[in-house]
Amino acid sequence: MDDFEPTIIAFVCNWCTYTAADLAGTSRLTYPKNVRLIRVMCTGMVDPQYVIKAFLEGADGVLVSGCHPGDCHYINGNFKARRRIKLLKEILPQFGFEPQRLRLTWVGASDGIQFAEIIRELVNQLKALGPSQAKLKMVI
Ligand code: FES
Repeated sequence: MDDFEPTIIAFVCNWCTYTAADLAGTSRLTYPKNVRLIRVMCTGMVDPQYVIKAFLEGADGVLVSGCHPGDCHYINGNFKARRRIKLLKEILPQFGFEPQRLRLTWVGASDGIQFAEIIRELVNQLKALGPSQAKLKMVI
């Protein structure tokens, strides 16, 4: 699987990480094209079902990224997301997915460089893990 290119679904907050991703693009920073962004108004609206569905439909990794603690535009949405991600990481093995495939980050609107770095890191980590179980089952 030397040519394995992981697919990453990224749920990104409109107010910070989405803007950072946009900034990375307008600043002509390069990062792997493996990521598909889904813009949400706050990480607090990322239902755990969205994450499970992304994995079951073939994502090799899922990123949830939002405003830094204290900066959420909806007061505590990112804290809710943090609790949900912690629980999701505990139940993911029951679905056959390694918890390392799910990541939560805080990326501010001016952190285009950090966003690009996170994507590079995640792609490398997922390449080391290999394709997800769901993707392998689809191939068979
Ligand atoms: S508004 Fe960005 S995480 Fe809540």
